Amino acid sequence: MNNKAPIGIFDSGVGGTSIWKEIHKQLPHEATVYLADSANAPYGNKTKEEIISLCIKNTEHLISLGCKIIIIACNTATTNAITYLRNHYQIPFIGIEPAIKPAALMSKTNSIGILATKGTLSSDLFYETSKALTLEVNITEVVGAGLVPLIENGEIESSRTLALLKKYLKPMVAANIDYLVLGCSHYPYLIKPLQELLPGNIKIIDSGEAVAKQTQLVLASKSISNISEETPRLLFFTNGKMRTLNFFLKEYKDKIEISEISF
Ligand code: DGL
Repeated sequence: MNNKAPIGIFDSGVGGTSIWKEIHKQLPHEATVYLADSANAPYGNKTKEEIISLCIKNTEHLISLGCKIIIIACNTATTNAITYLRNHYQIPFIGIEPAIKPAALMSKTNSIGILATKGTLSSDLFYETSKALTLEVNITEVVGAGLVPLIENGEIESSRTLALLKKYLKPMVAANIDYLVLGCSHYPYLIKPLQELLPGNIKIIDSGEAVAKQTQLVLASKSISNISEETPRLLFFTNGKMRTLNFFLKEYKDKIEISEISF
């Protein structure tokens, strides 16, 4: 495998750009190809079979573009499809799972909250991880129904978004959580309104940094890191609206290329 080959990243839409930003920060010399499957968002209400079939489509597209590794920048896709993908493709996969373990270890109130999609919270993989932790801490799980379409629409602080967040945070605050785990890669874009709505003692935790660190380790262990100092190409493809990706990536506009394609 060519060390200069790009890292492939996919998500059901624009949310995984929160993961891409961490990857680019930690691995600035790596070329990347990002697929935003916005035409099929949200994944969170789909069946496991539907999610697997969308992940196969995204994976094959990234392989056809010559990627050396694939980051599944979506909790819903990871928790439902990563086992299938690892069993059927040789390319290495890195997934993203809600950071409930670190939150549980750090919690002083022994109570944590998790906001994620229905698809993530009902997955076997999430069940296995959370089962082991429920002996130690109380976990308040809330499905963030409706949030992904609002974020895809660029509605970060609209009255509709704030109303949903208020409703979803209520049972968590009542359960005296001190950590809120963001179990969906779209939700880091809601950190500002979340901080404004939450009592000051509740910390928010997401998985972006951990995924980027893991990517670095896996590339090094397989000797496929890009050690060249050339400026890498940073490509973004969406089967939705370019304007949405532009909105979430505006601070990178001079160094990235965004195109609308069908895949
Ligand atoms: N970004 C996806 C995740 O991390 C969103 C899921 C969806 O499309 O519903 O779960």
